[in-house]
Amino acid sequence: MWKPPQKIKHEVDPGPWPTADQAAKSLLYSPVRVGRLELEQRTWVPAMVPWRASEDGFVTEDVLDWYERFARGRPGAIVIEATGIRDVPSGPLLRIGHDRFVPGLGELARTVHRASDGHTRLFIQIIDFLAIKRRPDPTTYFRKYLRITDRLRRNLEAEYWPEERIREHLIALADDDLDEILDERELEALRMGYRERVDDVHLPHIRELPQVLPDLFAQAARRAMEAGIDGVELHYAHAYTMASFLSARNRRTDGYGGTREARARLPLEVYARVREVVGPDYTVGCRFLTDDCIAGGSTPEDAEYFGAAFARAGMDFLSLSRGGKFEDARQPAVGWSVYPYTGPSGYECMPVVISDEFGPFGRNAAPAARIRKAIRAAGFETPVVLVGGFHGFERSEAALRRGDADIIGSARQSLADPDWFRKVQLGRGAETRICKFTNYCEGLDQKHKQVTCQRWDREQMDAHTRRTKDGKRRMTAPAWPA
Ligand SMILES: Cc1cc2nc3c(=O)[nH]c(=O)nc-3n(C[C@H](O)[C@H](O)[C@H](O)COP(=O)(O)O)c2cc1C
Repeated sequence: MWKPPQKIKHEVDPGPWPTADQAAKSLLYSPVRVGRLELEQRTWVPAMVPWRASEDGFVTEDVLDWYERFARGRPGAIVIEATGIRDVPSGPLLRIGHDRFVPGLGELARTVHRASDGHTRLFIQIIDFLAIKRRPDPTTYFRKYLRITDRLRRNLEAEYWPEERIREHLIALADDDLDEILDERELEALRMGYRERVDDVHLPHIRELPQVLPDLFAQAARRAMEAGIDGVELHYAHAYTMASFLSARNRRTDGYGGTREARARLPLEVYARVREVVGPDYTVGCRFLTDDCIAGGSTPEDAEYFGAAFARAGMDFLSLSRGGKFEDARQPAVGWSVYPYTGPSGYECMPVVISDEFGPFGRNAAPAARIRKAIRAAGFETPVVLVGGFHGFERSEAALRRGDADIIGSARQSLADPDWFRKVQLGRGAETRICKFTNYCEGLDQKHKQVTCQRWDREQMDAHTRRTKDGKRRMTAPAWPA
């Protein structure tokens, strides 16, 4: 993962813990309305993909165990990982693109409600993503994938060469020469792997996204409702389709790109169709970015506009993340796909303890405060969820008191210790297992390995401990009380 060049090591310090009485009087442990639902407390476990679904996208025993473990800590809400809305193979990522997925998701909803004794609300993040290919071996790329166009022939001064000769010639060329001859997208396909864009409107399936996506999202939301999940989070963040529509990099000229208004159009149309299908009572919100954190991307000013527009449209909550884009991601090894959390914008999304002067904690707080303020100024009370390095009571409470947000999400800290909400509430915060913020979990995610935490991998292991496929790590956090 990319790290800021300053390489300043920051200490992880959760700060003082409250007594049970102080927790009971805190904002963090006070209820908040989210649409027609009430969360008992303003704590939130954001979406995290743990690579535990079956190869064809179904809920497995491991998925049930994973969410059951979070539910035992009784946070205000848990968001189920990014779940695909299309009925297409996508490896062991959860899917919701067909009614056959409903029974498994129903089992998941019952598991979470039971394990939290009804204290936790369950949302599901629903996602669309575009095609992305692995970085090819250069010889294969030139022999098999590169399209030999007239422009390429002209660049090579090889107008009359047979295609095969051009391909073999390209294989022998040095990188510098290729820079002169191939265009930007061809170079990207060669060096990073081919990746579709929302403004590739010459491709019919990309041109038609505005016609296709509203109903795909809406049917996915209906299935979530039928499964007994309490609400949906439309995934409008990071590197995926909807975030790419919102991004200032979206250059579509068909009314769905360019200006802010046009970029927000499809996200608003998706929401409108979802609402039409699930009705007024079901909780629907979205996750989007306070800042793309890439050159030419959307800024907090854009996000203020989007936040107010989503609130005006009637969304029930707005969860704010930052960065996590493909555009600045690191070059993958041959045979691997580019991963959106490996560049500077990825750092902004999931910062680690090796950082710059600001450090890894609360990087999204000031932009979130700004966007919440814009939403309030537009006349809406829509609750805002903030994440980014929260791992203690004091900082979380202070962010709420300052008005940065209405709900505090903590992903990696909740992974390290899913019981920490309970521990703090009971005045036993000192027993919390604190995240090291080194992105051990994220490293596993990147390799599509079952996600675990270095803080619990070797704890309380015995012959009965369920282990990862490689047998080395435990699958869920150790029990508490032990
Ligand atoms: C293993 C892992 C998987 C993640 N998967 C998702 C995801 O499916 N959807 C999403 O919006 N964010 C995802 N994230 C990002 C988190 O939701 C969160 O925004 C990020 O970790 C920053 O919050 P934190 O500092 O509390 O960890 C993931 C993070 C981790 C560590």
